This record gives sequence, structure tokens and C-alpha cells, in this order.
Amino acid sequence: MMGLATGAIFLLLSLCGIAAAGRDIVGDVLRLPSEASRFFHNDDNSDDDSTGTRWVILLAGSNGYWNYRHQADVCHAYQLLRKGGLKEENIIVFMYDDIAYNSENPRPGVIINSPQGEDVYKGVPKDYTGEDVTVGNFFAAILGNKTALTGGSGKVVDSGPNDHIFIYYTDHGGPGVLGMPTNPYLYAGDLIDVLKKKHASGTYKSLVFYLEACESGSIFEGLLPQGLNIYATTASNAEESSWGTYCPGENPSPPPEYETCLGDLYSVAWMEDSDIHNLQTETLHQQYELVKRRTSNDNSPYGSHVMQYGDVGLSKNNIFLYMGTNPANDNFTFMDENLLRPRSKAVNQRDADLVHFWDKYRKAPEGSSRKFEAQKQFFEAMSHRMHIDHSIKLIGKLLFGIEKASEVLNAIRPAGQPLVDDWDCLKTLVRTFETHCGSVSQYGMKHMRSLANLCNAGVGTEQMAEASAQACVSFPSGPWSTLHKGFSA
Ligand SMILES: *[C@@H]1O[C@H](CO)[C@@H](O)[C@H](O)[C@H]1NC(C)=O
Ligand SMILES: *[C@@H]1O[C@H](CO)[C@@H](O)[C@H](O)[C@H]1NC(C)=O
Repeated sequence: MMGLATGAIFLLLSLCGIAAAGRDIVGDVLRLPSEASRFFHNDDNSDDDSTGTRWVILLAGSNGYWNYRHQADVCHAYQLLRKGGLKEENIIVFMYDDIAYNSENPRPGVIINSPQGEDVYKGVPKDYTGEDVTVGNFFAAILGNKTALTGGSGKVVDSGPNDHIFIYYTDHGGPGVLGMPTNPYLYAGDLIDVLKKKHASGTYKSLVFYLEACESGSIFEGLLPQGLNIYATTASNAEESSWGTYCPGENPSPPPEYETCLGDLYSVAWMEDSDIHNLQTETLHQQYELVKRRTSNDNSPYGSHVMQYGDVGLSKNNIFLYMGTNPANDNFTFMDENLLRPRSKAVNQRDADLVHFWDKYRKAPEGSSRKFEAQKQFFEAMSHRMHIDHSIKLIGKLLFGIEKASEVLNAIRPAGQPLVDDWDCLKTLVRTFETHCGSVSQYGMKHMRSLANLCNAGVGTEQMAEASAQACVSFPSGPWSTLHKGFSA
């Protein structure tokens, strides 16, 4: 036990060390060349808001105090949009709502999204909380279909043909999949189908989708067609993680009593930009360029590549069309701004839970039950990771042989191609895996590409079941069992 403890702590130390070493962005002034700015400036304002309503869906797909940042992002977005003049009745909020009054929260009833940030929790409507944060309710809200709802406030996007819709989703993800605090998770194929259905119903003029998650580019890559009047940007490309920020031990770090990351890199980049500008003078394209620059962190390994998909031409629209604008910012046009960004460091989304357990462990008094609990949480998370990684590798070897397995599991399709051709196959293989090996969970979503590759290589359900049964001789218990929460697909 002692040896394992020392090894694990050493691993954590080195993990935090790496995260801290990599990141040093120089604060930067971002300006477009003046010709570009004229090109992207939306002079014809025929789309003025007198002709349409702004609708918004905000969704935080996680729960647990170690995922504080996703719900903090969503609350911040809500405040920003209210200051921009949107009405509560047009903003639909999905969040588990286990953070503000979490026993770990040092400021009960308060959520912040940056180290000096003010409370962003106050006034946020509880439309869909707890077990009502589901894929089904999210889709029903997009489609404006009240009869498809289960639980929640009943608020949906009841939009008409002249309306503009903004959807912001922040969470863990993996290739082709986005997390939810409930099962099942959201699969890209289903989301694209819902967006097509919404378009076919003729109930919006344009739709903007901002997405923060690991491998978030894979949700739209090769999947979101042009012509739906949808413009999407994602925190990362299809093959890389996205990053938490304002994390313990970083600079800037959260106040010392916070043992968790307060925000996500792409998310705070767009919100901190929208917070301070006259959004009638800033286009989506200008924001994209700025967010891309800040999130890439000078192409260091501690940043990601912000991507855009769909009808990119829509990005010449002013942000105002989707978010309104705060009258207090009327004199702050984007082009005049000298943006001195703080240097920021980041933590891989997938390691943010370990950072939380580590910080908790580090600060807890010697010999306390809290220290013991943090250690236990850390070990359990680590052993689950090892179990999932090992199982997937072993299944690959059983199916394709030792030589060829990693080639199949790690193959990446060329840009512009979707992750998988048959989404039902992917979901079936996920369920088959989970039947024998337990829940893939937040961490295991990273292996979704390997499972997709099995489908692309023609592996059938029976072969998968046989390989999974052989690979996973013991079924995990506790939070990683599929027995009490069901399957993630
Ligand atoms: C709304 O949802 C219900 C229940 O899922 C479904 O039967 C119905 O067809 C949906 N309506 C529309 C317009 O899609
Ligand atoms: C913007 O600038 C003008 C002219 O200096 C001033 O009268 C106005 O109060 C300012 N508006 C805001 C919101 O600060």
C-alpha cells in the first residue's frame, strides 16, 4: 500500500510539473489588418434584431466538484447574455447544480469563473438540473418539442423563422462524443440529425454553436454540412484535448481555498472577450481569431487548435446578433482595444480530476480523514484509468493480433472525414464493451476513436462481445459499474 502511494504521488507531482512548465503566453495585441476588418465588418444590418428573437441554450455536461469549471462557465455565459439584454425566458440553462452548495465549495452559494471574478451563480435559472440534464431534454429544447421533455422547467427554443439561436456546450468529450452528467452520452451523429431536423422545420435564421470539449472538432468534422445556416467553433480539433484554466498551482491561480480549476481555456477566452466589448462592432470572425490565438497558447502542447465548421460565411455577422451587447461597453469597440492578456497555464481536461484530488491531498492536515479520502479518490481514479486503457489495448490485440492492434486502434482518418460511418455500430460496441468491462466514463471517452475504428474495420457485435469477455475477467464496482447508471450509449 505504501509503495503504491508513493508511486502515485510521484506520478501526480510529475504530472503537475509538466502542466506548469509548458505554458507561457505573451500577452498580445490582436488586430486584424484593416482591409480584413472592413471586409468582416457587417455594414448591411438588414438582420437587425427588430425582426427576430435571440434564443440561447447553455449546457454544462458534467457534475462533481472536480468539474467545477464547466458549470462556472455556463453561469458566466448566462450573466453575460443577461447584461447583453437577453431575457431570461429566452435562455435555457442545463446544469447539474451540485457546485454552489457542494460541501467542498469554500464560498457556499457562490460560483466564480476567474480568480478575481464576481459571483456568477446568482439568478441563474434552474431549467434542467440534476437527473433532468439529459440528451433527450437537450434535443427537445433545441427542437422546441415540449412533449418530448421529461422533467425540467418546460422551457424550450420556441423559435420562428427570423430568430437567431446560440448554443454553448462545455464538458468532457472524446472523439464523436460529448459527456452528460447522466447516461447516455451525446453522440455526434444524433446531434447532427437534430440540427438538420431543426433546419428543416424552418424555425431559425441562423444558429451559432460554441463547443468546449476534448476532441470537440470530431463532433462536426465531416459531419456538419454547409447550407444549414449553422456556424460552429470548437475548442480543439478532432484529435486533441481541450484545457482547463485557473487551476490550483498555476498562474493565475484560483484563490488558495479553491482546490479545483475555475474555468476552461477556450470558454474563458470567448467570454472574457465578450464581457468587455461593444458586440455591435465585433464580428464572430474577429472573436474566432482572438479565441484561437489565446487557446493555442503559441502552439505549445498546453493549448489546442480552435476550429470552425459549417457556414463560415456567417462569421461576418456581429456577435450582437446572438449575444446582444452590454450598454456599459458602448465605447469599447473591438478594434480599438489593447488586449493585454494575462499569461495563463492550463491543465488537460482529463487530468483536472487528478489535480483536484492532489490539491486536496496536499492541503489536508497530516493524518486527517480528509487526507485519507483524497488519497483514496486518487487511487480509484488511477486504477480505473489503468483498467480502461488496458482493456481497450487487450481487446485490440485479441481482435487483430499483437502486431496490427495498435495500428487499427490508433488510426486517424484524413481531415474532412467523419470518425465513423455507422453510428449505431459505434453505440453497440460501446454497450458491448461496458457490459463486460464497466463504464467507459469521462476518462474512457478518449478511447472512442479506437472503438470507432473497430466498426470501420468491420468488427461485429459477437466478435466484440467475445473479446471483451476475455479481456475483462472482473467487472468494476462502485461509480464505474454500469449496473446502477446504465450504459453511456
Ligand atoms: C415531439 O416529441 C414527441 C415525443 O417524443 C414525438 O412523438 C413527436 O413526433 C415530436 N414532434 C415533433 C414535431 O417532432
Ligand atoms: C461614451 O463616450 C461618450 C463621449 O465621451 C460619453 O458621453 C458616454 O457617456 C460614454 N458611454 C459610456 C457607456 O461610457
